[in-house]
Amino acid sequence: MTGRPPTRLLVATTNLGKLDEIRRILDGLPMTLVTLADHPQTPQPEETGATFAENARLKARHYAVATGELTVAEDSGLQIDALDGEPGVRSARFNGESYPEKFATIQRMLAGRGTDASTARFVCAVALARNDELAWETTGVIEGRLHLPARGDAGFGYDPIFYYPAYGRTLAEVSAEEKAAVSHRGQAFRGLRAYLEKALG
Ligand code: IMP
Repeated sequence: MTGRPPTRLLVATTNLGKLDEIRRILDGLPMTLVTLADHPQTPQPEETGATFAENARLKARHYAVATGELTVAEDSGLQIDALDGEPGVRSARFNGESYPEKFATIQRMLAGRGTDASTARFVCAVALARNDELAWETTGVIEGRLHLPARGDAGFGYDPIFYYPAYGRTLAEVSAEEKAAVSHRGQAFRGLRAYLEKALG
């Protein structure tokens, strides 16, 4: 970034699970975090990107232009190797309204391929934009495997079916701190935090 460092940062997500994790990771940064609730009239962009990084960039630019704020956006999701990387960028929109329905769909699709297990990863692409300009970006990845049936009540989304071998538990069975220490989002937003701390001097 060039010029005087901004003191506000728009965290452009409507997903409350993500927002809670991001707030914890950026806690103590000398910036005022604002959310889309502070810009309620802003229309959502269509997530037309073929990759997490493309979607993160298009969301960051869209909200930065629409609001005039320094904006961070992220795009994330689950890649299941036995399903050729599905649901991937479609993780939020994947078959089924509820997560138990999505888990049942995954189990059926795996059965169709003659298995009930797979390695998998969560990916989180983060992009920072000022107006239409991309200022910084990164991607975090956490490797694990599917755990069906689902287990645990913490976290959100696909956490109950994502088993993290080093913890011997799913990400819905660990604390928010334990998840953030190893997660795709934790890695990516700690990177953002370091970048902003340096930019703020
Ligand atoms: P999007 O980035 O808004 O397209 O949505 C990403 C989707 O991926 C979320 O709605 C979840 O279904 C899934 N996802 C991303 N990160 C996580 C995570 O940390 N735990 C569980 N599910 C996640």
